[in-house]
Amino acid sequence: MARFNWLAVAAVAFAGVAAACSDGTGTLSGPGNNGGSGSTAGNDPGTSADPGTSTDPGTTTTTTPGSDAGTAVPDPTLPAPPAAGPGSTTATAHAYFVANVYPKITACGACHNSGANGAPKMLGATADESYVGLDTRGLIVPNSLFLTKGVHFNGAAPALSSEALTAATAWLAMEVKDRAGTPAAASVFSKIGGCFTQTDYEAVRTAIDAVRTTRRTGENPNTCTGCNNTPCRDCHAQSEYGFLANNQVLQPSATYFSQWAMNEDFAKTFIGTNGTTLVPSPKLPAKAAAVATGKAYSHPMFTLPATVTTALTTFANNAITKYNAKTCGQ
Ligand code: HEC
Ligand code: HEC
Repeated sequence: MARFNWLAVAAVAFAGVAAACSDGTGTLSGPGNNGGSGSTAGNDPGTSADPGTSTDPGTTTTTTPGSDAGTAVPDPTLPAPPAAGPGSTTATAHAYFVANVYPKITACGACHNSGANGAPKMLGATADESYVGLDTRGLIVPNSLFLTKGVHFNGAAPALSSEALTAATAWLAMEVKDRAGTPAAASVFSKIGGCFTQTDYEAVRTAIDAVRTTRRTGENPNTCTGCNNTPCRDCHAQSEYGFLANNQVLQPSATYFSQWAMNEDFAKTFIGTNGTTLVPSPKLPAKAAAVATGKAYSHPMFTLPATVTTALTTFANNAITKYNAKTCGQ
């Protein structure tokens, strides 16, 4: 694959994906994307292109589910901490998180408490809510991505401070001891795969297949990489950078779908978490919003037609309904 010009472009400004993750916009609200992990084909997600110009992360705060005990609707799908034993609020490691880790990660809350800027909502207004959020995303494990993520979001998101890193490392070591012998809580993304169907996916696949990148003002079609009327599959045919726009020739969906469905990056493309509920992931709409204001030669610009957004919503909601009803073998 070609070298991408924009990876060399100095990252200066802060990303503006606020529009895509603002609350109250209906079915696509809610955070929960990511994809920096996994099949990144040699690209460091931390170096990803500057998606645009400034938006203050503080202005995009959404609701903080769980902070209002009176009206919050408890969702049966995301696990509450067990009443006793590992993970429970009385477990040593859990208590350590509450007392020593949570107070040191407030900087992360700017985006991760609410899902601002398209960040996965994996923390919350309280330590306990944050604990559940991290657990749900499968981050309470040794060598967690929570420890190793480092600076991300084009430099706008910090790494853990050394204090926080020390505390979090100690905490996760305690969790390992606490949870020894207990099967690791599988993240929702590793469990929901059985709820996806190829029939539903076909609508997503064909809709994405029809999308083309749009050349920005200032981009030279002869020298840009993929900016001019290029299908997404040119760069994402095999889940590169955590997004799959598959190529039916190399990987026919009929053969590969069951494999994709069990892949966490695939699940994160479609499913997000919103504190207490599963929601359609904002990943693609957030990327579309980010590239709309991106600089020339950053990630190619594209817009998502209604065929795509409708298919994404249907695909996600069908899977979520089945997951909530526990009818797909989880
Ligand atoms: C010229 C190659 C190229 C083309 C064409 C391209 N992409 Fe990308 N895409 C990348 C690269 C490189 C990254 C990782 C860096 C970044 O995020 O900018 C990426 C990242 C992404 C991500 C973020 C994945 C994650 O997990 O955070 C999404 C979503 C995405 N692309 C969607 C699309 C869509 C939709 C299209 C077609 C309209 C498309 N891309 C076309 C190269 C490309
Ligand atoms: C300015 C917003 C912002 C801040 C502040 C921020 N993040 Fe993030 N974070 C993001 C975005 C956007 C993503 C999704 C894209 C990506 O993975 O890079 C993300 C993704 C992550 C992920 C991947 C989650 C998963 O399940 O795949 C981890 C882990 C993470 N952040 C940790 C942290 C930690 C630790 C801090 C604090 C030290 C922090 N973040 C602060 C925006 C932010």
